[in-house]
Amino acid sequence: MSWKGIIEQYRSYLPVTEQTPIVSLHEGNTPLIQSHWLSELVGNGAEVYLKYEGMNPTGSFKDRGMTMAISKAVEAKSVAVLCASTGNTSAAASAYAARAGLTSIVLIPNGNIALGKLSQALIHGAKVAPVEANFDTCLELAKEIADKYPITLVNSINPHRIEGQKTCAFEISDTLGDAPDFNLTPVGNAGNITAQWKGYCEYHSAGKTTLLPRMLGFQAAGAAPLVHGKPVLNPETIATAIRIGNPASWDQAIQARDDSNGLIDAVTDDEILAAYQQLATRDGVFVEPASAASVAGLLKYAQRDYFAKPLADKGRLRIVCIVTGHGLKDPERAIKSIELPDRIQPSVESIHQAINLAG
Ligand code: F0G
Repeated sequence: MSWKGIIEQYRSYLPVTEQTPIVSLHEGNTPLIQSHWLSELVGNGAEVYLKYEGMNPTGSFKDRGMTMAISKAVEAKSVAVLCASTGNTSAAASAYAARAGLTSIVLIPNGNIALGKLSQALIHGAKVAPVEANFDTCLELAKEIADKYPITLVNSINPHRIEGQKTCAFEISDTLGDAPDFNLTPVGNAGNITAQWKGYCEYHSAGKTTLLPRMLGFQAAGAAPLVHGKPVLNPETIATAIRIGNPASWDQAIQARDDSNGLIDAVTDDEILAAYQQLATRDGVFVEPASAASVAGLLKYAQRDYFAKPLADKGRLRIVCIVTGHGLKDPERAIKSIELPDRIQPSVESIHQAINLAG
């Protein structure tokens, strides 16, 4: 049977009825790929998987939430949607709004969103407002606008977004046959960790899984309000997707952390970039920098032997790192991370000289 998107797949777990017009780009069903080197690194038979959310239609996990938010907006007869975004939400909102024939308005922090994401909003016909402010201010403005005008806010404070995004946990559990022992995820505005935890809890209550994972969230060190326990006024990180100082789902993220006996910690930009490059060169998985925060977190905690005791206790451990967005979102970062090759004259000899074709 062909995949019809997360709403059709998980309809009974979602707040939709026969009357809800489903706006879908067949999102979800993303690959869960075992990482052999990361599995070996944790050792003793541990299995580490990457949930490659960059394989969604607009290149990030946001599509799961947006199919729900836009479907419900159409059901409510809304004609325009609005979001503040570090880029991926705006890409998803503008694509799904285009499909539904809605106007989309996106507020983005000027100069701080990756090129691929900006191009998506523009080509899908969104009304783009590059605001001279960071994401947190953009979100405050978006909330104010949604209060004053007949426009539906599709940031993750819209509960339909969380509903859609929880399906990531369903898919992981369906593929593994149970929930994983650990779920590692990047954290920005904190909607996704909230949604994943909700998904695991619901599947567990429904008897679909026997265990609940420990939720490990990772923020960028320069944008780690949940780690410091207070908002960061001027968040800074190369991982622009998670350059957020005052997450909207603060309390829910803390609850997911505590209820799951997990943690939320910070990883530095250098650690993020190292994980970003290693995923590309060792797994063949190209993600955007923010996505690599989960893997940077895994590397940090593997080094501390954090997984050794649970592994010894259980004899088996399954760890899932959510990699949230595609690497092609931010080609500039990839180009900056490697040394560009020199131009070569068109002869086999000069190519051989430059590259050493004999290996
Ligand atoms: N990874 C990527 C690639 C993201 O784009 C985001 C958030 C996150 C992780 C963090 O998820 O906010 O639910 O904790 N991007 C939002 C946006 C803020 O506007 O695209 P979160």
